[in-house]
Amino acid sequence: MSGVNEIRSAFLEYFEKNGHERVASSPLVPRNDPTLMFTNAGMVQFKNVFTGLEKRPYNRATTAQKVVRAGGKHNDLDNVGYTARHHTFFEMLGNFSFGDYFKEQAIELAWNLTTREFDLPADRLLVTVFSEDEDAALLWKKIAGLSDDRIIRIPTSDNFWTMGETGPCGPCSEIFFDQGEGVAGGPPGSPEEDGDRFLEFWNLVFMQFDQVDAETRIDLPRPSIDTGMGLERMAAILQGVHSNYETDLFKTLIASVESAIGSHASGESLASHRVIADHLRSTAFLIADGVLPSNDGRGYVLRRIMRRAMRHARLLGAREPVLYKVLPTLVAEMGRAYPELVRAEALTSETLKLEEKRFLQTLDRGLALLSDATEGMSAGEKLSGETAFKLYDTYGFPLDLTQDALRQRGIAVDLNAFNTAMERQKAEARASWAGSGEAAAENIWFPIRERVGATEFLGYETERAGGVVVALVKDGTETETAVEGDEVSLVVNQTPFYGESGGQLGDTGTMRGEGVELAVTDTRKFAEGLFVHRCKVTRGTVKLGMPLDLEVDHRRRSHIRANHSATHLIHEALREVLGTHVAQKGSMVAPERLRFDFSHPKPIEDDELVTIERLANGIILQNAPVETRLMAVDDAIESGAMALFGEKYGDEVRVVSMGVAEEGEKAGKTFSIELCGGTHVRSTGEIGLVHVVSEAGVAAGVRRVEALTGDAARRYLLEQDERVRRMASLMKVAPAEATDRLETLLEERRRLERELAEAKKKLALAGDGGAGEGMAAKSVAGVSYLGRVLEGVAGKELKGLVDEAKAKLGSGVITFVSVADGKASVVVGVTEDLTTRFDAVALVRAASAAIGGKGGGGRPDMAQAGGPEGDRAKDALAAVEEALQAA
Ligand code: SER
Repeated sequence: MSGVNEIRSAFLEYFEKNGHERVASSPLVPRNDPTLMFTNAGMVQFKNVFTGLEKRPYNRATTAQKVVRAGGKHNDLDNVGYTARHHTFFEMLGNFSFGDYFKEQAIELAWNLTTREFDLPADRLLVTVFSEDEDAALLWKKIAGLSDDRIIRIPTSDNFWTMGETGPCGPCSEIFFDQGEGVAGGPPGSPEEDGDRFLEFWNLVFMQFDQVDAETRIDLPRPSIDTGMGLERMAAILQGVHSNYETDLFKTLIASVESAIGSHASGESLASHRVIADHLRSTAFLIADGVLPSNDGRGYVLRRIMRRAMRHARLLGAREPVLYKVLPTLVAEMGRAYPELVRAEALTSETLKLEEKRFLQTLDRGLALLSDATEGMSAGEKLSGETAFKLYDTYGFPLDLTQDALRQRGIAVDLNAFNTAMERQKAEARASWAGSGEAAAENIWFPIRERVGATEFLGYETERAGGVVVALVKDGTETETAVEGDEVSLVVNQTPFYGESGGQLGDTGTMRGEGVELAVTDTRKFAEGLFVHRCKVTRGTVKLGMPLDLEVDHRRRSHIRANHSATHLIHEALREVLGTHVAQKGSMVAPERLRFDFSHPKPIEDDELVTIERLANGIILQNAPVETRLMAVDDAIESGAMALFGEKYGDEVRVVSMGVAEEGEKAGKTFSIELCGGTHVRSTGEIGLVHVVSEAGVAAGVRRVEALTGDAARRYLLEQDERVRRMASLMKVAPAEATDRLETLLEERRRLERELAEAKKKLALAGDGGAGEGMAAKSVAGVSYLGRVLEGVAGKELKGLVDEAKAKLGSGVITFVSVADGKASVVVGVTEDLTTRFDAVALVRAASAAIGGKGGGGRPDMAQAGGPEGDRAKDALAAVEEALQAA
């Protein structure tokens, strides 16, 4: 039972047997603590349980917690590789009591595990206690039977554990293993304590207080227990080796480094091998928890770790990327205990390769510069800050990497000058912002961005996290507080809220803190990476520096996610069906629908639309994982990723791919690959369904489709279905026969209309218009005049009827008026023989005037006009009669 994996299992099983709930490690990026860079202890995930803010269904827990100490309060980066014990990543085994047992049982449990299960000889163990904690000393005596000289009282902060500036804390008691006289060093508290002989492997913290701020320390509601055992150290002890790096897991990793590089881990090269093995662990675990290398915040710490490992690989002779080659060994060793490593393996591998490739391009030149600059320098001298800054700025050497490279020669860096150079660069950046043309109203964000740095976005991984208020803007000016009813723009140091970009709308949600609640109505991005939350204070007062619990509206975001992923599918489907000329011209990803504008010269045919939908839904049915990778822009575009022309991308971009094409030229290949910073579903099945609801032109050569997904699509289709049912039931047929039936009905209707028009015509011509005059003409001015108002005849029929009447009459003048919707139409006909005496156009004008019309027109034998006063139709007839007499 001495392999790392077995020790971990034995520990967890022991505490499970003793009534503890086995709880999974929390992610390395803390969700519940905005003040911490990385999870730095097992108790972090239980912080609010200790303080009573959060309740869990158990009051005893045990974990194997992933820990990174490479930034913030606990930072071990500089020492890693050069000592036997330091790591950037390690596993902390712990047991916790939340107001359940306290000191006595904690000591008993620890002692029994150490001496009975792990079988460590009691005479090789000693403990420390906080000098003010007499209880603990007595309990060790009683339970372990340790003599006084083996219970060492320490008065310093070494035996008072604090998580950070604030949080639960308390006196602690540490257990040490004596590695024997052969190893240099003295017991804790002695001047030689830094030697390695007495090895601390377990820290029992008697949690009693909550450090609220620098001045205030209050009692926890109930005394609790938090313990932490370094798994790597316990493995070294149980395996009888004097360095964590000689334990089974590290031996395997280092062997893998040797074979990847063709190096040999001994003598001077030992440290480099250890650095690589250690840093690969933190890199892989951080990437698996959603951190990717960047120039800010956590991403920058990761980049520093990666580059430090790369420099050591280079020292060992590596000319090509090699770290990714060691990754499979790590995954094989630790993937069972931490399946996230397996899930992220492809992403980690590519990220390593990319980062290594890019860094190797400048590493040699940077190292040459460094060696020139330090030529002839001796230990105790300082490298100029300007050179260190140039290495940082031009060659991508983080400061600590330069320091690491000079460490063995005892050369330090002139930090003041380095900082001055850094300041100067910031001032230049500020000057260029001023000219970047963002709206004046938004200028307020630049100085804030410079002061507080870019906001760290956590929203790819989580929709809820803690954040500290770093800026508040009310009515266009910065302020320190905002009260109930105020509308404010609020910036936090890190946020799960997505800031509107790439067509995806900003998140909404809630922020809560002590006595305060805010409704977030929108989130935007300004000044290169500052996330600005538009909020309304709904309760209490929000203040600068306040920690807040930030929670995105989950439902809304999940709809947005589905719509965003569906947009990618529709985009690709459009290209497959219409051709690769289809290029994105704009998009909007909202919770309720998606809109996609693209170049295409003509409307999409119905059958094309059917195929587009079928392709997109085919990928949804694959329930394919949506994969995100970080790539160099050029590589991404080369790999076929679709990018927006003219869009500004950083050096590195997120590339989102999903699905496998089932047909066409791309069959078997990845269906959709796009550069995208948006948030997406984890697998395409979550979209449920995509349905295009409209297709239209928006500008010359640009079409727009709008679509619905998931439940919105389902409801839409349900409504359509319901409509069809109702129509079918009205027509008294089955829904499947509805269209046939409708066609028949429409055909029948057209026939009936034709027949009706005929009948009306006949009736009108045969009838007497109510005046008993029939179709008989009368004699006016010596010619036959036939003037009639034709009921129920359409205006467009009049000319035909006038022609027929002319034929019947042989010689004469005819005026037919019809009325529809209150308006009158009039046609006047003059038979050929009379056109020298009467002009139809002049006559129709007279008629038109009578019905309020404005003239009319035609030829001498046939003219027409209209007028709004339908009720004066008969006057039109009389007007023509008068005109005949006057002619
Ligand atoms: N929190 C303590 C530590 O990290 C014990 O788990 O050492």
